[in-house]
Amino acid sequence: MTKRIQVAIDGPAAAGKSTIAKKTAELLGYTYVDTGAMYRAITYKAIRLNIDLQDGEKLTKLLHDTTIDLKPSENGQLVFLDNVEVTEEIRSKEVTSSVSAVSAHADLREEMVERQVDMGKNGGIVMDGRDIGTHVLTNAELKVFMSASVEERAKRRYLENQKRGIPSSLEELIEEIALRDKLDSEREASPLTQARDAIYIDTTSLSIEEVSAQIMQLAKERMV
Ligand code: DC
Repeated sequence: MTKRIQVAIDGPAAAGKSTIAKKTAELLGYTYVDTGAMYRAITYKAIRLNIDLQDGEKLTKLLHDTTIDLKPSENGQLVFLDNVEVTEEIRSKEVTSSVSAVSAHADLREEMVERQVDMGKNGGIVMDGRDIGTHVLTNAELKVFMSASVEERAKRRYLENQKRGIPSSLEELIEEIALRDKLDSEREASPLTQARDAIYIDTTSLSIEEVSAQIMQLAKERMV
């Protein structure tokens, strides 16, 4: 019988993690968890309640009183905040530019990590984020760290926005992604770093299919 393993996929913003993680989960019949969506959901709630995003204590308390559920659907993963669907809302520009500040608070991260560890404890899971291999699924059978050049990541996000009918500027996206890289990698609490036992994949010149095939191969080797 094959083992239902844990797959941890980390990397910087717009590296294609969620596309690949979703696809991998689908192919393996596993649950997919987008941890970025959880940080986005609490950021969205904090903005709506006008909470100071620098106030880690208040934000952590808010998270304690908040439910965040991720549910698979035909149209991808749906995000529920206190039982209300917020899948689209958490992708707004305002949330995107505020989420690094919220996710920098150590106590808030501790609570998030606890929830995520629980979600992954039975295996059969593909989780993507920034600290999955280093703090959440620390014993995952497969850890991948995916990246691509800032320009390539901005270009992919630009084309994705175009497809979804969201107007954006390539220059602005390059700036926004570079800033988010800096904030996510330089924060004190579990900064974005590659786990020592993670496999690095540079996706700059690879297609989704090529990356997916590489990860599926690695996963299969670890399931026996
Ligand atoms: O993957 P994303 O762009 O939707 O993530 C949004 C933000 O959440 C990202 O800028 C950093 C933060 N994040 C984090 O700190 N830890 C994670 N495991 C996932 C996301």
